[in-house]
Amino acid sequence: MNKFKYYTPTKVLFGEGRVKELGDLLNSYKINKLLIVYGGGSIVKSGLLKEVTDILNNYNIKYYELKGVEPNPLLSKVNEGIDIVKKNNIEFLLAIGGGSVIDTAKAIGYGVFNDGDVWDFYSKRRKPEGSLKIGVILTIAAAGSEMSDSSVITNDKTKEKRGCNSDYCRPTFAIMDPKYTTTLPDNQTMAGCCDIIMHTMERYFTKGGNLEITDEIAEGLMRTVFKNGTILHDNPNDIKARAEVMWASSLSHNGLTGCGNDGGDFMSHKLEHELSGKYNVTHGAGLSIIWPSWAEYVYMNNLDRFYKYAKNVLGIEGTDKMDVAKKGIRKTKEIFSSWNLPIKLRELDIYPTHEDIIDMAKSCLESCGGPKGSSRLLDLNDMINIYTNAL
Ligand code: NZQ
Ligand code: ZN
Repeated sequence: MNKFKYYTPTKVLFGEGRVKELGDLLNSYKINKLLIVYGGGSIVKSGLLKEVTDILNNYNIKYYELKGVEPNPLLSKVNEGIDIVKKNNIEFLLAIGGGSVIDTAKAIGYGVFNDGDVWDFYSKRRKPEGSLKIGVILTIAAAGSEMSDSSVITNDKTKEKRGCNSDYCRPTFAIMDPKYTTTLPDNQTMAGCCDIIMHTMERYFTKGGNLEITDEIAEGLMRTVFKNGTILHDNPNDIKARAEVMWASSLSHNGLTGCGNDGGDFMSHKLEHELSGKYNVTHGAGLSIIWPSWAEYVYMNNLDRFYKYAKNVLGIEGTDKMDVAKKGIRKTKEIFSSWNLPIKLRELDIYPTHEDIIDMAKSCLESCGGPKGSSRLLDLNDMINIYTNAL
C-alpha cells in the first residue's frame, strides 16, 4: 500500500446564488482590499463582474482590477499583477474565471510573497515559501485549479509552459454556481469535460498500486463526466448536468482520485503542455489529441488497467484483455469525436515538422527532469513517437 497525503483546505460554496455570500465570506477573513483577476470579458458580458463589484461596494471592500488574462496565461500578465499588488498593498486575490485566471492569480500570489523572479518557481530553480491568499469564483468546469495545488504559466518569450505545485496556492475558498457555466461556448464546455476526465485518467493509469475505494471513485467520476458531457453537448442549458461536471472538475484534480496510487502518470499532460505552449491550443483539445496517441503507445505495458477502464468505465464486455483494452481506447476516441473534439493535430490545422516535434519532445523531457511515466517510462524517443502518432 502506498502512503498518501490528502489536503483540501478550500472552503466550497456550491449551488445557485452562492455568490451573494461573497461579502460575508470576505468579512470572515477580514479582507479590506483585493485585486480582481479576470479574463477577456465573459464575466463582463454575463453580468457577474457587476454582481461582484456591487457586493464589494456594499461591504466597503476596496478593489483593483487586472483584466485580459488569456487562455494559456502569460508570465507578462502575472508580472503586471504583481506590480499592482505591491504598489497598492493589496492583501487578497479574487480570481473570477477558469484555470487561466486562477493560475495567474496563483502566480501573482507567489510573486508577491516571495522576492525575486516568479518564473524561478515554474522553471524549478526555487520553491515558493508561501503565497498571498486567493479566492475563486469559478465560471468553467475544466482545469480543477479551484481546489488544486497547481498553477500553469507560459513564458511569453520562450513559449515554455510550465507548472508549479505547492499547497500554498490552494485557494482559500471557491464559489461554484453551475449557472455561470451556461454561457460557455460548446468547444470550451467539451474541452473542459475532456480535461476533467483526463485528471482522473492520469491518476488511474498507473502501475505502482491502487486502492479499491479510490478506483471506485475514479471510475464513477469518469462515467459521470462521459455521461453528462454528452448531455451538455446536446443541451448546454441542462443545469443538473452543469452541476455534475462542475463538482467533478474539482474532485478530479484535488487529489481524491489519486489517493493510494504511486503518484500518477501525468505524461499526457506533460506532452500536451508543450503543444499548448507552442501552438496556443486549448488545453482540453490538446489532451483529446495526445491521450489516444499516448494510450495506443503504452497500453500493452499496463494492460490490466486499460482492461479495467474499458470494462468498468465504458461497459465493454469480453475476456480477451487486449481486445477489450483496444476497444476501450477506440470508444474513448469516438466519444471525443462525438463531442467535436479533435483527436489528431491536423484537425486543428497544425502541422509540426519533424524538427518541431523533436523540439517539443526535448522540452517535455527537460520539464519532466528526465524519462517519466508510470504506465510506461517514456524517454525522448517515445515522446517523439507519441507526437508523431498524433499528427
Ligand atoms: O477570458 P474569458 O473572456 O473569461 O473567456 C474564457 C476563455 O476564453 C472562456 N470562459 C470561461 N468561463 C466562461 C467563458 N466564456 C463564456 N462563459 C463562461 N462562463 O473560456 C476560455 C477558456 O478559459 P480558461 O480559463 O483558459 O479555461 P480552463 O479552465 O480550461 O483553463 C485552462 C488553463 O488551465 C491550465 C491549462 O494548461 C490552461 O492553461 N491547467 C491548470 C491546472 C491547474 N492549475 O490545476 C491543471 C490543468 O491540467 C491545466 O493544465
Ligand atoms: Zn488538465
